[in-house]
Amino acid sequence: MTERKNVVVGITGGIAAYKMADLVSRLSKNGFNVHVVMTEAATRFIAPLTLRTLSNNPVLTDMFEEYSEWKVQHIGVAEAADIIVIAPATANFLAKMRCGLADDLLSTVVLATRAPVLAAPSMNTNMLDNPVTQDNIKALKDRGILFIEPAEGELACGVSGRGRLPDVDIIYQNISDILNSKKDLQGKTVLITAGPTQEDIDPVRFITNRSTGKMGYALAQEAINRGARVLLVSGPTSLAVPVNAEIYRVRSAVEMNEICIELFDQADIVVATAAVADYRPLSYSDQKIKKKDGDLTLKLARNPDILEGLGQRKKHQILIGFAAETSNLIENARVKMQKKNLDYLVANDLTREGAGFGVETNICSLIFRDGTVKNLPQMSKADVARIIFDSLPAGQVAE
Ligand code: C5P
Repeated sequence: MTERKNVVVGITGGIAAYKMADLVSRLSKNGFNVHVVMTEAATRFIAPLTLRTLSNNPVLTDMFEEYSEWKVQHIGVAEAADIIVIAPATANFLAKMRCGLADDLLSTVVLATRAPVLAAPSMNTNMLDNPVTQDNIKALKDRGILFIEPAEGELACGVSGRGRLPDVDIIYQNISDILNSKKDLQGKTVLITAGPTQEDIDPVRFITNRSTGKMGYALAQEAINRGARVLLVSGPTSLAVPVNAEIYRVRSAVEMNEICIELFDQADIVVATAAVADYRPLSYSDQKIKKKDGDLTLKLARNPDILEGLGQRKKHQILIGFAAETSNLIENARVKMQKKNLDYLVANDLTREGAGFGVETNICSLIFRDGTVKNLPQMSKADVARIIFDSLPAGQVAE
């Protein structure tokens, strides 16, 4: 018999807290071991006794109370969790999570866990739309916190708008999808390049591009979720490194190339999302270049094409490239795939809104060696990452 999964349901103080009775009951009936942790405010909206009865476990509310099941309570719960679901997640709790506060049991558990955390925000529309809340949600997403988008409809405050807790069915489905996510990359090593490179001109100036690394970091997270060992070779970004990724930080294309060659033999799958600068200043000035009257001419040297080099070294590896284009997308991508000896290529058209650098979504086409093209609609970078690994040839993934 497989062991029961531990679902920690963290309830914060929103009116939708009462709906958690239904979620907890559904999870328990479907064989999950449910541990409810409530904030003080949540206990005003729904009685802990109700949730204790439905979960068959003590409801945890107090940082300092002794619960016999756990040695050190907040760490015990955090370690046992296969997933932590925060529903409803109030604006206040999201702000606390964003800052890493740990001033009650639930926030401490969230800080101490390595399990996936899924948050379902629910609040008044104005609170949700407030830039500070949106900024907190964005920062948490960048750190790998998973979100269920709030629904639209009648709110407790009498107005109608975005901010309702989504149906319990949807929350349940998200939990079950995360817990049952494929582990088809177990035993595989995935090498991912991400972010821009910086090519130094002098001690204060460099050449770079608009890449933020979001696509590569989403791929790293997805590969980790599927059980892979992930080697993430990253140019400078402001993103949080996914927990369990082995990070190799670099600045220039030459540095990125060296590390990739060093790591290549360990890799089974390589995904090159980095926007590697094609040129670097031919010579580096170790003194700051002084401005003078008239133009300055900067001579540039070609950088190594990292992916092409790996394509030449390729043995058993699957190589996946990215092609950011502004014209003749599919044709250019086909040429690139041949030249770099790739297994498939993800092409995105930088001229389309919702695709490419900096944005949360991407619009891609997957182009395979046999010439087939799979056009994907606009979707989150996490979803693109999922489809990229779903498209691996059989034999590369554990059945
Ligand atoms: O030739 P182009 O730069 O359009 O190719 C894009 C693909 O090649 C991406 O996967 C990118 O990460 C990779 N690349 C590389 N080294 C370079 C240039 C691009 O690995 N110098």
